[in-house]
Amino acid sequence: MTEIAFLLNGTPVTLSTVPPTRTLLDWLREERGLTGTKEGCNEGDCGACTVMVTDADGSRAFNACLLFLPQLHGKAVRTVEGIAGPDGRLHPVQAAMVEHHGSQCGFCTPGFIVSMAVGHLNGRTDHDDVLAGNLCRCTGYAPIIRAAEAAADAPVPDWMHADRSAVAAFSLAQVSRGSGQSPEAFRPATSDELADWYLAHPDATLIAGATDVGLWVTKQLRDLAPVAFLNGVADLQHIERRGEMLAIGAGVTIERLREEIAPLHPDFAELLRRYASVPVRNAATIGGNIANGSPIGDGPPALIALGATLHLRRGDDIRKLPLEDFFLDYRKQDRQPGEFVLGVTLPASAPALRCYKLSKRFDQDISAVCGCFNIALEGGVVRAARIAFGGMAGIPKRAAAVEAALTGQPWTEAAVRAALPAFAADFTPMTDMRASAAYRLEAARNMLLRYHHDLAGAPVRLLEVQP
Ligand SMILES: Cc1cc2nc3c(=O)[nH]c(=O)nc-3n(C[C@H](O)[C@H](O)[C@H](O)COP(=O)(O)OP(=O)(O)OC[C@H]3O[C@@H](n4cnc5c(N)ncnc54)[C@H](O)[C@@H]3O)c2cc1C
Ligand code: FES
Ligand code: FES
Repeated sequence: MTEIAFLLNGTPVTLSTVPPTRTLLDWLREERGLTGTKEGCNEGDCGACTVMVTDADGSRAFNACLLFLPQLHGKAVRTVEGIAGPDGRLHPVQAAMVEHHGSQCGFCTPGFIVSMAVGHLNGRTDHDDVLAGNLCRCTGYAPIIRAAEAAADAPVPDWMHADRSAVAAFSLAQVSRGSGQSPEAFRPATSDELADWYLAHPDATLIAGATDVGLWVTKQLRDLAPVAFLNGVADLQHIERRGEMLAIGAGVTIERLREEIAPLHPDFAELLRRYASVPVRNAATIGGNIANGSPIGDGPPALIALGATLHLRRGDDIRKLPLEDFFLDYRKQDRQPGEFVLGVTLPASAPALRCYKLSKRFDQDISAVCGCFNIALEGGVVRAARIAFGGMAGIPKRAAAVEAALTGQPWTEAAVRAALPAFAADFTPMTDMRASAAYRLEAARNMLLRYHHDLAGAPVRLLEVQP
């Protein structure tokens, strides 16, 4: 049990007898009767459970089904019941949804309303991206997008600003440094505290964004205690320029990384735009994306192509290694008991980096193949190549034979074609529901050709290519 304090639709709530892996969704519906927040998939895929969470950094949309209550400590939660004004006045996005017939059965509507209201509050007009995590089975998206467009210029209602000031005052007044701790749920504030505690509890589960771990609870019904929540660890939240390098803390969320890395590595940022949805990206961290060792994670191929170095800590010992060496075998990483990911460092500039994600759906889908390419040319000859793939092996993996076949060769289409057979030496992909082995191998080869055309300035993006 652990003590947690947060604001719920403007009202302070303190919980002292709640299991650490109780989801916000279950608690809202079962204990608060706030059934406007719907349960659709219970795994972050449908957006029916979207809520707004506000802290000192602003207001963002989250999936309540993948949020454990201790992650909300010191924050403000607004459910769909809190989106209309205190006097019952509709929020502009609600009025626009009525006006534009944006709802039929209505099951998805509360989630859409919250995502739209958060987008409206933050001045976002990229409605397709803002709503990519909200699924609607019956209305169709055109009326919903029309409603979002119609509401875009309406002023933000006063009550939508209330959480920002309330949470600041609330944090200062009510959230003491010592609260939120218990033997089975630890909320460290620094990586020093985390290092000490994890050394003493090496079998514990670390929870960062819970976009993987959440499913272990909601789908596998696992008991994870003891757990440590990493979202309060301040010194894992940095994105810092250090000379020619960029240092990124393990706790940086995918959405923040996407926003901040865009000027330096636009293709990486574009890849991250197609990583899940806004609510998942607001929770998921780059540390979790690396530590889980998934062979189909989107972060590792891009980071490996960039030549990223991984930083790990166990107790007082810090070590670093090339990121590709961290992945040993399927779901087996070079990580000792009690050791955790501190962050990554990578070059701040890599103009030749390109990232290609192939998935069955454009938005909110896991990669079938994710290929990331980064070559250095000297006088038209390939001096060095870093090529990494997800979805092609049991781990995120460099295409060492392809790199060797390209290095020292002129950067011509003929030389690229001559390197294509080397893919078979690098990869023996598997067949699964996302793609067959033969398709994966062919797609990977085609990505290298695409890369050649891309660097030559040809349009290669799905949304750019015209018939
Ligand atoms: C709907 C949905 C869509 C998704 N789409 C994508 C996608 O398109 N691309 C993609 O790559 N992934 C996707 N994912 C997977 C998931 O978002 C990522 O793997 C995510 O980055 C995990 O980060 P997290 O912070 O949520 O980790 P958590 O779930 O909190 O943790 C994941 C694992 O990492 C460990 N861990 C976390 N932080 C650390 C640390 N600092 N040190 C050591 N261990 C740590 C945890 O103990 C756990 O084993 C999706 C997930 C969902 C639910
Ligand atoms: S219930 Fe589907 S995203 Fe939460
Ligand atoms: S209105 Fe029925 S699912 Fe969207």
